[in-house]
Amino acid sequence: MAVRIAVLPGDGIGPEIVREAVKVLEVLNKRFDLDATWEEAGIGGAGFDEAGDPYPEATRVLAHASDAVLLGAVGGPQWEALDKPLRPEAGLLGIRADLGLFANYRPTKVHSQLLDASTLKPAVIDGVDILVVRELVSGIYFGQPRGTDTVDGERRGYNTMVYRESEIRRIARKAFEAARLRSNRVCSVDKANVLEVSEVWRSVVIEVHQAEFPDVELSHMYVDNAAMQLIRNPRQFDVIVTGNLFGDILSDEASMLTGSIGMLPSASIGEQFAMYEPIHGSAPDIAGQDMANPLATILSVAMMLRFSLNRSDLAEMVEKAVEHTLDAGVRTADLAFAGEPVVSCSAMGDAVCSALEALA
Ligand code: IPM
Ligand code: MG
Repeated sequence: MAVRIAVLPGDGIGPEIVREAVKVLEVLNKRFDLDATWEEAGIGGAGFDEAGDPYPEATRVLAHASDAVLLGAVGGPQWEALDKPLRPEAGLLGIRADLGLFANYRPTKVHSQLLDASTLKPAVIDGVDILVVRELVSGIYFGQPRGTDTVDGERRGYNTMVYRESEIRRIARKAFEAARLRSNRVCSVDKANVLEVSEVWRSVVIEVHQAEFPDVELSHMYVDNAAMQLIRNPRQFDVIVTGNLFGDILSDEASMLTGSIGMLPSASIGEQFAMYEPIHGSAPDIAGQDMANPLATILSVAMMLRFSLNRSDLAEMVEKAVEHTLDAGVRTADLAFAGEPVVSCSAMGDAVCSALEALA
């Protein structure tokens, strides 16, 4: 029976990068034995323009009826003046919450071919292989109360960083489970020297560790130190588990170890649903110019094959095709260093497809 994929291109470079990822799915259908169908729907600004809602009902229905969701990116200056619930970001947070996608996996692997593309020294980043496990549907992104008001004649804004024990326990379990399949080390990142929410976070992580995963090595780090250590000595990390806001920030930082934020895929997984998206944003400044890097989205398809479609074999093929493309020196603008020739987004997609066909 064919697997069903909901394809949500979104805004900015979203449609361009998703188009290349869909080309890869087409090759897998035609030349390998994937049996996938897909249907597109609006999300973010595109959802608002189509249906007046950044997470339209039709998109919700499609996502619920699919085996997996592939998302591009959301956001752009033309929607910034809208009321908060109508903005593109509300659509992304809306679908994450609606599908219960509490575990966000962001693998940061340095590709040896791109050692020189990083702003850090090759000797520091060679061999880096980190998995950031970010809690995705709670924390300060969703905590109540939140809002803006006026106090003593001045404007005030506030949010609440809150975690319940059950929310910490389930993300901690995912991190320990992931670590067992890797180098068996988890570093939990918090701000327990200042924040009560982090005190609870840390004690629950310790409890889960002692009760269920004593074989995994657990350490704790304050988020400011973690930000520094990621640059100082990134190879010390295996799995990093952290809350929504810290994970958002640290995963962008970690992405630069690989040379470009355009390389990082992600998987967001809940009890019933899963969504795959690059960690980068919609890059409105380069949208429509066919110059974005589609590899993060293509690698997100690999994660989808592995985690939702039960096709690790095909996931490996896609990852291999990306490696071969990088081996051949094909570079989008974000990956090229001084004077290297660059290819367009669509040419990068084509190159990966040819490399994939060569593996068939
Ligand atoms: C990400 C993005 C989103 C987030 C934005 C677009 C709302 O930065 O997926 O990391 O903050 O989660
Ligand atoms: Mg982010």
